[in-house]
Amino acid sequence: MGKVAVTAAVVFAAAISTATAVAVRHHMKNSAKWGKALEILEELEENCATSTWKLKQIADAMTVEMHAGLASEGGSKLKMLITYVDNLPTGEEKGVFYALDLGGTNFRVMRVHFGEAEEQIVNEEVHTSIPLHLMVGTSDALFDFIASTLAKFVAEEGEDVHLPAGRQRELGFTFSFPVKQLSIASGTLIKWTKGFSIEDAIGQDIVGELTKALERIGLDMRVTALVNDTVGTLARAHYDNPDVVAAVILGTGTNAAYVERANAIPKWQDLLPNSGEMVINMEWGNFRSSHLPLTEYDESLNAESLNPGEQIFEKMISGMYLGEIVRIILLRMAEEAAFFGDTVPPKLRTPFILRSPDMSAMHHDDSSDLKVVDSKLRDVLEIPNSSLKIRKVMVKLCDIVASRGARLSAAGTVGILKKLGRDKSRKEGEKQTSVIAIDGALFEHYTKFRQCFEGTLEELLGDVYETISVVQSHDGSGIGAALLAASYSQYIGLEES
Ligand SMILES: *[C@@H]1O[C@H](CO)[C@@H](O)[C@H](O)[C@H]1NC(C)=O
Ligand SMILES: *[C@@H]1O[C@H](CO)[C@@H](O)[C@H](O)[C@H]1NC(C)=O
Repeated sequence: MGKVAVTAAVVFAAAISTATAVAVRHHMKNSAKWGKALEILEELEENCATSTWKLKQIADAMTVEMHAGLASEGGSKLKMLITYVDNLPTGEEKGVFYALDLGGTNFRVMRVHFGEAEEQIVNEEVHTSIPLHLMVGTSDALFDFIASTLAKFVAEEGEDVHLPAGRQRELGFTFSFPVKQLSIASGTLIKWTKGFSIEDAIGQDIVGELTKALERIGLDMRVTALVNDTVGTLARAHYDNPDVVAAVILGTGTNAAYVERANAIPKWQDLLPNSGEMVINMEWGNFRSSHLPLTEYDESLNAESLNPGEQIFEKMISGMYLGEIVRIILLRMAEEAAFFGDTVPPKLRTPFILRSPDMSAMHHDDSSDLKVVDSKLRDVLEIPNSSLKIRKVMVKLCDIVASRGARLSAAGTVGILKKLGRDKSRKEGEKQTSVIAIDGALFEHYTKFRQCFEGTLEELLGDVYETISVVQSHDGSGIGAALLAASYSQYIGLEES
């Protein structure tokens, strides 16, 4: 296509005056560059393609990896971690429970009152950040700080908060760092991430560390559940609806958890004599398959990342990376096709400068002159004079990268449904509804991503899609953790109903 245009221009140029010829030659140079940019775009679109057939292969691969991960430790890139959650909230939970959500430098404490008929009242919530020096200090110092925040929170409780006499306060602890769970309320820290580096906490039971700190400060509170945010999301959604079978996080990162029959978990059978079902934390961000449409841009993102070779699925899907993939593609277009003019805009060389909310804003721009795209290019990349052609390419780029992510996450979800045997038509007269709970900003705020995700589920499931429902879930790491504190309360079975 570029070639034809150039040939026509050459023939044309030969017939006109020298002055015009200079202008035309300039135009030719530009259109050759433009042709190169379009070539890069076309090649990208081809390499990111996710046909129905390919997605079905990916769903199958997900199912296979799930089996392998359950069968043996290290049997798959999918860790398929047992969470010890064999008892999800039913909607009958009552009383006051606490949640502690430590997800990074920010943490929060909350108190939730679960009342009649699914009525829940968040009595109060406080947000604090961990002082920098405590992120690299000692385990005692960190947990003393957390315990004192909890103690202060409890001390400020009003008259209206009262627990039955003689009852301990109970807490669900969402700890968003890699943990090896040992029971519902214990787990050892594998490593720190997100800027934390507290050597003496590694390998320790973090519930034990918190419990000791609570004792030191004299706060009578017991941790009854240690929770991963994905598991909290599943718990939160299950409280509203018992048909919830899986939770998927589509936010800064991505992960999934689902409810497995305990007898399908060979490696754990001895440990779970009484469990009918068990929540499995898939850690699906680490999924990998030869069917994944990986491009050279994904390769360079991966190579420059903090964890090369890991979390490949996550790097193609989640909010942390989508904008970065677009940036890497743009940089190549700027370098090889002078997409933004003769010089490469310096901002384009800054990793992670383009965030997924920027991308979403550009992708949803429906003004005729794409003024949102223009303002994002100005504000984020400091490109002051983009043409409409350039803006259109920007929208296209966002579409290619976001759609691929949404379609891959839908394929992964179908993999889970397959593993559960819920991807087939119902038998006559059988009522089976499968609810998938989803949380995360990407799903909540990136409308085209969500629409593409849902459309792809329908494309892959056909008629069965009617039996599936996708619901937005909120605050699994807060309310979900408080709910699990209730499900695993030491007083369960002791109370009169
Ligand atoms: C739990 O959640 C966090 C963040 O969402 C993740 O980084 C962590 O590795 C998860 N898994 C485990 C097993 O702790
Ligand atoms: C934008 O302006 C700069 C400086 O005037 C110029 O070098 C560049 O080629 C222009 N870019 C576009 C896309 O018009």
